[in-house]
Amino acid sequence: MYDELKVPPRILLGPGPTIANPRVLKAMTTPMLGYLDADFVDIMDDTVALLRQVFGTQNSLTFPVSGTGTSGMETALINVIEPGDHVIVGINGYFGGRIAEIAERCGGVVTPVHGDWGDIIEPDQIAEACNKVSPKLVAVVHGETSTGILQPLEKIIEIAHQNDALFLADCVTTLGGQPVSLDARGIDIAYSCTQKCLAGPPGLSPISFSDRAVEVIRNRKTKIQSFYMDVTLLEEYWMGDTRKYHHTLSMTLVYALREALRIVVEEGEETRYERHEHNARALIAGAEAIGLEPAASENHRLPMLTTLRIPNGVDDATVRKRLIQDYNIEIGGGLGIFAGKAWRIGLMGDAANEQYVLLVLNAIEKLLGEVGHSVEPGTAVRAAAAVYQNS
Ligand SMILES: Cc1ncc(COP(=O)(O)O)c(C=O)c1O
Repeated sequence: MYDELKVPPRILLGPGPTIANPRVLKAMTTPMLGYLDADFVDIMDDTVALLRQVFGTQNSLTFPVSGTGTSGMETALINVIEPGDHVIVGINGYFGGRIAEIAERCGGVVTPVHGDWGDIIEPDQIAEACNKVSPKLVAVVHGETSTGILQPLEKIIEIAHQNDALFLADCVTTLGGQPVSLDARGIDIAYSCTQKCLAGPPGLSPISFSDRAVEVIRNRKTKIQSFYMDVTLLEEYWMGDTRKYHHTLSMTLVYALREALRIVVEEGEETRYERHEHNARALIAGAEAIGLEPAASENHRLPMLTTLRIPNGVDDATVRKRLIQDYNIEIGGGLGIFAGKAWRIGLMGDAANEQYVLLVLNAIEKLLGEVGHSVEPGTAVRAAAAVYQNS
């Protein structure tokens, strides 16, 4: 016999998933409908309309792909890249590396443009790469969750378009927490996820293609390798007057996404972005006050994910384990070259709030004290509270 499913009330302050909004969880208990039921199609249409709003786009081909953020990444690349196509990928963290890996699996000839972990990709580097190869696609990560960098996009987009290339932005971490503004910026392809700043469960990956990108896909010489991710087929299910079955969509996840997007729009996008920035400022003030230095360069920090260098002599795993055991708080460990060297604290969606900022700072301060990094009790919380008081 197995017990009834019960999980501890974790406070998820890592790189995602974040805490799902209770309204989203409630929407997930809505009964199933058939995948072509007219009422479900209406719900799909609502979801697409809301997604266009939050993506900041009029792009017709905008919908959620089944699967997590990586399925959006794979869908984006597999539809656009044909064997032999040149692809320039900015790699200044773990997820840029994943884009390059998938682009290569699609038969693309990848020119990596490396940046330091914790810093941005400079537009000049992209321009230089464009002078060497003639790219079909230039791809960068908007919010690099492994390093805590918010990549400026405008100049790189300009360079990509001057070179007649499509521009792709990985918005897995940014959608719902910072403006992605696809149309205003001229982003041709973007994908995201549901479990971070949209405060939903993992399982869908919102994606959007500009008309230019759609034209490139329609003019392919070779067939898209994947049936499941072929957007020309998925389009016939998600758009238009006569819908065609493609695969059995998870109604539950669509209900969840629709509710999550409704919440974003209700709060107001600008208010939500400012809330993420404000709480990140307070977190960093508290962290710095107890000697935890941000690992991302100062002018380019990602509000929803803060990387903090672990002080010498402090064991990463011990502190994170105690955070869970004693406080029910999950934060993230470092990825790649930051493994064991940095913590990743996510303030995503609902979790970007004063209560959790003060709680996690207090908990980390106490645990650091126990492993020999004592500061005057209350230092971190006082510094963070000052940010809230002065706003
Ligand atoms: C920037 C970025 N891209 C892609 C992914 C992959 O998303 P998923 O784990 O949902 O497949 C992540 C996951 O954290 C991410 O942070």
